[in-house]
Amino acid sequence: SVELSLRPANLQQYIGQQKVKDNLGIFIQAAKMREEALDHVLLYGPPGLGKTTLASIIANEMGVQFRSTSGPAIERSGDLAAILSSLEPGDVLFIDEIHRLPRSVEEILYPAMEDFFLDIVIGTGPSARSVRIDLPPFTLVGATTRAGLLSAPLRDRFGVLSRLDFYEPDELCEIVERTADIFETTITHEASIEIARRSRGTPRIANRLLKRIRDISQVKGEQQISLGTTDHALDMLQVDEQGLDHIDHKLLTGMIDGFQGGPVGLDTIAATIGEEPQTIEDVYEPYLLQTGFIQRTPRGRLVTPKAYQHLGIRKEDD
Ligand code: ADE
Repeated sequence: SVELSLRPANLQQYIGQQKVKDNLGIFIQAAKMREEALDHVLLYGPPGLGKTTLASIIANEMGVQFRSTSGPAIERSGDLAAILSSLEPGDVLFIDEIHRLPRSVEEILYPAMEDFFLDIVIGTGPSARSVRIDLPPFTLVGATTRAGLLSAPLRDRFGVLSRLDFYEPDELCEIVERTADIFETTITHEASIEIARRSRGTPRIANRLLKRIRDISQVKGEQQISLGTTDHALDMLQVDEQGLDHIDHKLLTGMIDGFQGGPVGLDTIAATIGEEPQTIEDVYEPYLLQTGFIQRTPRGRLVTPKAYQHLGIRKEDD
């Protein structure tokens, strides 16, 4: 499907994250030369930057199967044992949101990662016994928003740790133009630049905005997506000049109206605007911090003068 082919299939097609790509390329080449499984890889960074895509590329480049699950989907150690014992030599097992694995499951993962075996306890009470199951060598690719969310013993078992950063506008522009190509849609370069500039450094957001803008352009009967339509569509979609969305605005104005711009604690902000603290921390804050609209202080989050200026709000007490 078109949706599936949106994902680049190899490192060559993957735009941006140059350092991560360079390093992975070498580790993959070396593992292939030695005919070994690649070391376990931890990918971390904000959502939508391409962690799942990169994991599937690793499998493609290694020429092995890609198996995919997530931390919350694995409830009991038996669930993980079933997946692990069905792997073939060298396979990539991708675990998204790996920080949400139950602790009991995490513990059976340690010997599996380190020495490729499972210690499974069968039965309970005096008749309980432990069975050792050998596993083929495999590569665990874990994804999480922050490396610090993992327990130290789990984090220590990854040989490769790669942090994904927000994309530069020129990289996002290239991604938008690639996606437009796959959709067989024409877009002007200035419109692609505008989408790139207002996508919070995030390919998933850029591609989603492109789809909605394409809808609006098509209904207008345009031959190609113009800058005018892009601007108009982004207004309709409540994406502002700096790429901040409705919830970013709610967050900033909530802090200003309720707490004079802070400092205010995460849980307090979350309760005020009715979002989960974890969602604010993982999804909204990273971009606001990176772009300098908020700051973290020991006493909580603080709205910066840049944010006041952007929102056109005067700070009360100065
Ligand atoms: N689509 C989404 N992210 C991408 C990336 N980093 N490179 C190429 N296409 C993409």
